[in-house]
Amino acid sequence: AEHVRSKLDGSSLFVVSNREPYVHNWQGNTITVTVPASGLVTAIEPILCACNGTWVAQGSGSADAETVDNHDRLQVPPDDPKYTLRRVWLSAAEEEGYYYGFANEGLWPLCHMAHTRPTFRASDWEFYNAVNERFADALVEEMAGERDPVVLIQDYHFALLPRMIKDRIPHARVAIFWHIPWPNPESFSICPWQRELLDGLLGADLIGFHVQAHCNNFLSTVDRVLEARVDWEHFSVKRNDHWSSVLPFPISVELTEDSSGLPLDHSFEEERSAIIGELGIDATFLGVGVDRVDYTKGIIERFQAVESFLERHPRYQGKFTFIQIGAPTRSNIPRYAEFQREVESEATRINDRFKRGKWRPIVFLNRQHSHKEVRRYYRAAHVCMVTSLHDGMNLVAKEYVAARSDDRGVLILSRFTGAARELRDALIVNPYDIQGTGQAIARALEMDVTEIVDRMRRMRKMVKEHNIYWWAASLIGELCELRLKR
Ligand code: F6P
Repeated sequence: AEHVRSKLDGSSLFVVSNREPYVHNWQGNTITVTVPASGLVTAIEPILCACNGTWVAQGSGSADAETVDNHDRLQVPPDDPKYTLRRVWLSAAEEEGYYYGFANEGLWPLCHMAHTRPTFRASDWEFYNAVNERFADALVEEMAGERDPVVLIQDYHFALLPRMIKDRIPHARVAIFWHIPWPNPESFSICPWQRELLDGLLGADLIGFHVQAHCNNFLSTVDRVLEARVDWEHFSVKRNDHWSSVLPFPISVELTEDSSGLPLDHSFEEERSAIIGELGIDATFLGVGVDRVDYTKGIIERFQAVESFLERHPRYQGKFTFIQIGAPTRSNIPRYAEFQREVESEATRINDRFKRGKWRPIVFLNRQHSHKEVRRYYRAAHVCMVTSLHDGMNLVAKEYVAARSDDRGVLILSRFTGAARELRDALIVNPYDIQGTGQAIARALEMDVTEIVDRMRRMRKMVKEHNIYWWAASLIGELCELRLKR
């Protein structure tokens, strides 16, 4: 955290994201605060806490006309305020067009190879432009009088924002971090507004992705589509006399030896028995998966891998239970509502096929869980399954590793995640290969304890060294140095 502050060298930090870190619900005079299910929020929050910056995000939760005026600027975290949260309130039509429409029915399937057809509507595009402008207005207001502001824009909701900010505040140092993959140029060209998106992004001084492959796809797309000079040696682009660097910064989580907050005599076995008791099941071995119920996450393939494993290794029938924590997400979008039903019915089908007595193969906990609750499941599980069909990074993989202060537990990890490039000691699988993924479950449960410990120790070392502060310090450090070079 100290390192991040020193990179900022006295400059003020402004972060922009669509999702806000705390959802405040006012009922009369009572406020309840919840934390949304978002890898981005988990990752960014410790940085804001360390740097006392300003976070601009979409206001959510209950907000009638009266509360909006009073609550568009708050000090958070609510229990121990450390930074400013500036909230931009969107109308239902703006949210529908910009967030559900352009960002999540257009860009999300466009950038993930998960075989859902992107939908691009001209009306959504209008709202996407208008909402990017509204965030630009809020940022410019927040940055008033700042001599050397550093702006970190988050994600695909704001491709147009870098240029809007640079046009209005040319001395701001602006980076955008794209949390999802970038596809190849042919795929990207499906988007009718690809030129505008690229031009908006190239307003930034620095464009970050999780992995080099996504940087390369982005540079190839620019090369193909725009009048711009792509410098493949330095991974940068020159357009209208302005250079943008395009570099990988693999995002991460916080891992300290005492981050589990557990007493030394804490027993992971006792926790497992407690969870089994609470769920009212009979099981000896537990697996866990934690996702938003999103069609990119490979949840159905994962259930089918559990089925294949139980078929091929019948001695685990009655013994192995897979717990899927699935947070509801983007449910206004028909494809998400449909996917939610598919996940439920696949779990029911497999349970009906195998269940006996108090044992069943799949427990689907279909609600949002707090970080604290999720960490209990991580600690109780012999194996964690991350089987995304495509994922920028996937922080569940790193959170599982961070939670295993006992050096136990096996991670099964899709090769199509950014995390697979770093966590080489996971069992790397192709989630489309159902039998192969099922075999990985058997391998995990039968792995020798010394191998489990060796693998987990190496993964913990990696996450500890390349933690979320390292990510922020690298990104901010690079951004500040870029300016000096010019
Ligand atoms: O992975 C991309 C991402 O935008 C994350 O950055 C974020 O945590 C997640 O999707 C959640 O999505 P939403 O904010 O739409 O619920």
